[in-house]
Amino acid sequence: MLCNLKELVDAAKKEGYGVPAFNVYNLETVMGVAAAAKELKAPVIFQVYSRLFEQGTGEYLAPVILEAIRRLPVPAAFHLDHGSGELAVMRALRAGASGIMIDASLKPLEENIQTTKQVVAQCDAVGVPVEGELGHIGSTKDANPSSFTEVEEAVRYVEETGVAALAVMIGTAHGKYKQAPSLNIGRAEEISRAAGIPLVLHGGSGVPDDQVRAAVRAGIAKVNFGTDVCCSFLDSVFGVSRDIIALDLFMKEPVEAVKRFAMEKIRLLGADGHA
Ligand code: 13P
Ligand code: ZN
Repeated sequence: MLCNLKELVDAAKKEGYGVPAFNVYNLETVMGVAAAAKELKAPVIFQVYSRLFEQGTGEYLAPVILEAIRRLPVPAAFHLDHGSGELAVMRALRAGASGIMIDASLKPLEENIQTTKQVVAQCDAVGVPVEGELGHIGSTKDANPSSFTEVEEAVRYVEETGVAALAVMIGTAHGKYKQAPSLNIGRAEEISRAAGIPLVLHGGSGVPDDQVRAAVRAGIAKVNFGTDVCCSFLDSVFGVSRDIIALDLFMKEPVEAVKRFAMEKIRLLGADGHA
């Protein structure tokens, strides 16, 4: 059942759980995530990195995601992740995205606001809500992580851009952590109270369970998992017997591995049973 980003994050914020957002790359990761959401009666977000739309593969994946969502009895959204600019945004909208993220977080505040505002206006024209990012959430490989999102800046950013959800920097990063991160839960709470909209936690792979739960209690309504979707899939692929040649049969176990991973995170966020 196709829903938009705002419908899913608003419901999660109201009811105190987190919507899991899984980065998908191929038919098998889509199938694994869909099977998990169906079994646990959970709302779910299928998201696709901007790069895939920039390189032209997003358009192949989009119909697979939309068909999975059409068959699902649970609310689900198809979201562009870390949209890099107009090209990716336009392509994702045309491909049927029901949520768009614009990531101008490396730009100075004024420019971030202007860029985001423009994308919100474009997307609003076709009824698609937008996620913005304030405070840059970088990579676990970065030498110096950016500073935490400031509360007053977040309030101004939300008021001026009209985003439906806000990705905040509270200590996470994308990729495999060398050591477990320590999140600034207090900051998330302050931003949530002051800005009043659902917040998004990026870099969910490898964040300890207790911190994920605390983040959800503090106002995080969407949690992104990318790296560990890939790892669950790849670890399984490398373990499958080379005697299996037919790809549909070869992929059965990797799909199950993604499903198991997604089920674990759905339960962690308390999203099970909320469809
Ligand atoms: P991870 O790859 O660290 O889980 O981060 C995912 C993410 O934030 C996608 O936007
Ligand atoms: Zn991210």
